[in-house]
Amino acid sequence: MDVFFCNAACVALLQREEKFDTSVLIVGKGKHMQNHTSAVPRNQAPAKKSGEFLIGDDLRVTRLGFGAMRITGDGIWGEPAGRAEAVRVLRRAVELGINFIDTADSYGPGVSEEIIAEALHPYPNGLVIATKGGYVRPGPNQWVENGKPEHLRSACEGSLRRLRLDRIDLYQLHRIDPKVPAEDQLGTLRDLQAQGKIKYIGLSEVSVRQIQHARTIVPIVSVQNRYSVTDRGSEDVLEYCEKEKMGFIPWFPLAAGRVSSSESPIGRIAARWKASPSQLALAWLLARSPVILPIPGTSRVEHLEENVAAAELKVDVNKWQELDRMARAS
Ligand SMILES: NC(=O)c1ccc[n+]([C@@H]2O[C@H](COP(=O)([O-])OP(=O)(O)OC[C@H]3O[C@@H](n4cnc5c(N)ncnc54)[C@H](OP(=O)(O)O)[C@@H]3O)[C@@H](O)[C@H]2O)c1
Repeated sequence: MDVFFCNAACVALLQREEKFDTSVLIVGKGKHMQNHTSAVPRNQAPAKKSGEFLIGDDLRVTRLGFGAMRITGDGIWGEPAGRAEAVRVLRRAVELGINFIDTADSYGPGVSEEIIAEALHPYPNGLVIATKGGYVRPGPNQWVENGKPEHLRSACEGSLRRLRLDRIDLYQLHRIDPKVPAEDQLGTLRDLQAQGKIKYIGLSEVSVRQIQHARTIVPIVSVQNRYSVTDRGSEDVLEYCEKEKMGFIPWFPLAAGRVSSSESPIGRIAARWKASPSQLALAWLLARSPVILPIPGTSRVEHLEENVAAAELKVDVNKWQELDRMARAS
């Protein structure tokens, strides 16, 4: 059963028939969603329609994940405006079938990891929490690389404590700090792995050459680079990940909401396809490569539900070419 796009009369009928959980009815409020609603059948986990990916040898995740950077305050600093809503977003994400959550010690700092634990601990079987270390935060919107071994060790300990875990499934080096030899940074993660504190290691914002070099030091299972339908700067890295069967985790998949506007080029195409621009941008990522694991972020249940419905969106491949052309031109 796929997403239904229907008008208000259709929604009323579905609710009367009680075949659908009305709490999961996704009613668009933006211009692009007017007269269109998607209803998710009761007891379904729609995110699962995005398919699965195996991280490393044994972490099987639903491809459409969740990015937990936006459940913090302005400037990714401090408490979110609505902590209770942030907790609801995380619980709803799991209900909808998401089992891959991305975070970092630097989001808040500490706040995102703490809210994840508050919302979801004890964690359901199969939930994979990927976190990162390698940044320090002097203030809102300020990010300073710190790849010194002593910092990475204490960052990892802090994440274990806040997430209430004995071992982190996927630990990503947030940035390779140019001030510290890469061998020292990756060697520290290799030691943490040997101590059983980290299961798998990933990288973030790296070139193909950096991935190749890192792999001479320690096994790497995933790469997290900025990438979206409108931002193809990491195409070569994606192709490398595809060839090497490594997970490619595109951050900024909605360009922080800019592709979500009905006035964007994607918005204009989406309106014709009776989908929201965010859904189309996420469906494009899922269709682009089987190694892509999108992690759209939001602080609102309404946006989460809209985004997850993208997993069920099927679009004629010829129309992707139109989207491709328009996105590249935008
Ligand atoms: N590795 C790195 O260096 C790095 C850097 C940045 C981010 N990340 C990771 O990537 C994840 C995603 O990146 P991101 O949060 O920067 O970008 P994003 O997912 O492209 O955009 C998130 C923003 O879009 C808005 N949004 C989400 N769904 C929407 C919808 N359906 N309609 C309208 N607006 C919507 C959200 O606002 P609302 O809260 O109002 O919904 C939020 O401000 C982060 O959570 C984080 O885990 C990694």
